[in-house]
Amino acid sequence: MKCTPFSQLDVKNKRIFVRADLNVPLEEEKIENPFRIQAILPTIDTILKKGGKVILATHMGRPSAPISGLSTATIASWLAANGYKVRFEANLGKAQKDSSKNFDEVMILENLRFFPGEGTDDQVFAQTLSNLADCYVNEAFGLIHRKNTSITLLPRLFSQKTRALGPLMEKEIAAFENLKKQPKETFSLILGGVKVSDKLPLIEHFLKKAKNILICPPLSFTFMHALGQSVGSSLIDKHSTKKALEILEKAKGKTNIFLPKDYVVAYKSMQGKLSTINYDEFGPDLVGITVGPKTIELFESALQKTKALFVNGLPGFLNRPETLIGTKKILGIIKKSNTYSMVGGGDSVAMVQQLDLEQNVNFLSTGGGSAIAFLSHLPLPGIAWCR
Ligand code: 3PG
Repeated sequence: MKCTPFSQLDVKNKRIFVRADLNVPLEEEKIENPFRIQAILPTIDTILKKGGKVILATHMGRPSAPISGLSTATIASWLAANGYKVRFEANLGKAQKDSSKNFDEVMILENLRFFPGEGTDDQVFAQTLSNLADCYVNEAFGLIHRKNTSITLLPRLFSQKTRALGPLMEKEIAAFENLKKQPKETFSLILGGVKVSDKLPLIEHFLKKAKNILICPPLSFTFMHALGQSVGSSLIDKHSTKKALEILEKAKGKTNIFLPKDYVVAYKSMQGKLSTINYDEFGPDLVGITVGPKTIELFESALQKTKALFVNGLPGFLNRPETLIGTKKILGIIKKSNTYSMVGGGDSVAMVQQLDLEQNVNFLSTGGGSAIAFLSHLPLPGIAWCR
């Protein structure tokens, strides 16, 4: 290990840069689900208890310029409402000047993606961030597959003794190492969500790893479109159709890819009246929302021999609870199937929690795409400096 175990990190009277992934689901600038924040509270508490100063940093969304809706001021308010003394700081110069003051206060930096250097391998930005702290802790499991300066270059500016992976990161890595050992024949993946161009290359790698890949909406619509099927007004990524076809071709004889047989659709808009149709009955005004009963049956039979399952991208909309019906049923079959199940990704975890079905799954992860990258043995620049 080229870093120190978190439990041995000397944090007393030191400033600790905690790089977290607090990219939480938001609805009209309000936090829809605080799971990712709650998951790092023990880390913050431990540092404070040991007499260290927490400098907390995260990204939120994918802003190309600062926008108020993606400011981490929202996270600061959440922490303050939950009993933490917090200071929000958008100016890195001021942050450095005051980094040694008020050790009982958590200093949270503005969304790192508001700074151009975060996404551009910027040594100067890394140096600026390193001036804020004496030690570095990476708790951003959800980001380990990305080349963001604060998780790649920044930790390299700290010595082996002053940098660590945090306890949440250690827990996530241990859980996914375990899942990785599962033989392909008994491993399945349920995948959905909107980040289509991100997810398709990951599915490609997963063909080596999973026997069954069950595709949920809205991801399924890009596959249907690629196959020349109508999807009405449902969300598709036109730029990914070639990749989707390649994947279907490559999967032949290796991995079973299941696409929904039926859908719950809304009329004209996401808020429209709901009905259920077969996959080949899309009219131009219909927006696909979630899976129908025939798909649930299909998924249930597909999961029969599954012993380990990773879920990233459950269907439906958090702010329209009646659209979570498909997700509720999927979580029901997961429970019935007796498989070891892990669910990751901001919205998916939020759905499990909103439905109050945490007991149906074995592990809720703060990772989404990162977990798939981990399971697929892809490069993980965000932790490479420690391994
Ligand atoms: C996530 O939500 O999956 C992580 O925070 C990574 O976000 P990104 O896909 O925008 O890099």
